[in-house]
Amino acid sequence: MEESRRHGDLTSTEVRILGCLVEKESTTPDNYPLTLNGLRTACNQSTSRDPVVTFADHEVEQALVTLRERGLTRTVHSTSNRATKYRHVLPEVMGLEPAEMALVSVLMLRGPQTIGELKARTERQHHFDSTDEVTAVLDSLAARADPFVRQLDRQPGQKDARWVQLLSGHEPTDWAWSTLDAVAPADVSASADPYGEATAEFYDLLATGHWEAFGLQLLDLLADVDPAAGPILDVGAGTGVGLSYLQLAVPEAHIHAIEPSKAMRTALHTRLAIDAGLRSITTVDPATFEHAELPEQACALIASAALGHLGDLERARLWRYIAEQMPAGAPAVIEVLPPDRPLSVPPTRYREIFVGDHVYEGWQEGEPSGDHHMAWTMTYKVRRGDTDVAAYTVRSAWRCFSVDDIRAEIAPFGLTLVEHEDCVVISH
Ligand SMILES: C[S@@+](CC[C@H](N)C(=O)[O-])C[C@H]1O[C@@H](n2cnc3c(N)ncnc32)[C@H](O)[C@@H]1O
Repeated sequence: MEESRRHGDLTSTEVRILGCLVEKESTTPDNYPLTLNGLRTACNQSTSRDPVVTFADHEVEQALVTLRERGLTRTVHSTSNRATKYRHVLPEVMGLEPAEMALVSVLMLRGPQTIGELKARTERQHHFDSTDEVTAVLDSLAARADPFVRQLDRQPGQKDARWVQLLSGHEPTDWAWSTLDAVAPADVSASADPYGEATAEFYDLLATGHWEAFGLQLLDLLADVDPAAGPILDVGAGTGVGLSYLQLAVPEAHIHAIEPSKAMRTALHTRLAIDAGLRSITTVDPATFEHAELPEQACALIASAALGHLGDLERARLWRYIAEQMPAGAPAVIEVLPPDRPLSVPPTRYREIFVGDHVYEGWQEGEPSGDHHMAWTMTYKVRRGDTDVAAYTVRSAWRCFSVDDIRAEIAPFGLTLVEHEDCVVISH
């Protein structure tokens, strides 16, 4: 986990989902990763859960969107079975060993428990030889700089003290979403680039959770790319968070970074200013994909969190470019962001980070706006203690895609795709 992230800000729904993913990974490995249906059933189980809940599909889906934003879960698109599946990445992101995961997950699923209860209830996930061993692992989880667990004070009449997880239970109650309108929004009315202007300032701090896992995946997906075939095309490069992964994946390649937002490009250029190596290989194309000066050939293409921003004609240009100007087999990696169809997503804080004396928060809220589109409302808040220092709200249209939607759209161009976690790789 990023060092500036604090535990404690997950919602109770997110915690239940993570607990279930951890539990099912070891108790029913044949059915893991879990489908949406399997995950909802696991959450709503009437045994081994406290409290018992009755989540609907859309509640689980909404929480999966924010868990993925936080970089805590991954989407698995299976080639054999069309159902989308979900898995957690807690060991990688939070640095948890199997014994620690077992204890944290049982605390997530069943609330505060004694050492004896924890030893018995983790048995199917991990065998502890003694209650002393359980205590030692809990003590080390409690002693971390950002503790995962805490021992509760023993209540009168209780023989043993109970332990509690600290991943949730700190949802903000000191301000309501509706108070947001009282804070002056940034003056973006005169700007032709409201999304970039509101977002760029906070993008690297708040909106790059997906890169932690996606970047590593790119190293694999681009491993066989031949840099002699042309540059890597980065469509909607943003502030350039992904550039160093592209450089690492194909060290000899040049990068053609298409980015229409001046505000996003300002951050991108700052990145290039302080990294001479990246600067020497990156050409910045200040245009939408529609108007970009596309190189004659590209050895690979990447569109990370960008496909939904492209209009119908731009996507047609994209598919035609891959079909006609990329060598056979050259990969076009297109990130597929959830949800795969328009969905109502309530205001959700997806990230929080400390900057000096201030806390920066990223919030998102989504509403369907047509058969394929969602209207996302992104809000970036800067707070000092209980005081709102600033809040910037911006709306952004996004075209939702399922893997099948993309498959149907690229077929007329003679393109096929292979599904991977959170992305598809298109080629011909
Ligand atoms: C969510 S950001 C993703 C940035 C970067 N790829 C990443 O993953 O960090 C989406 C980017 O797409 C850019 N974008 C929006 N419309 C675009 C278009 N028509 N053509 C190319 N890029 C576009 C935005 O300006 C923004 O920087």
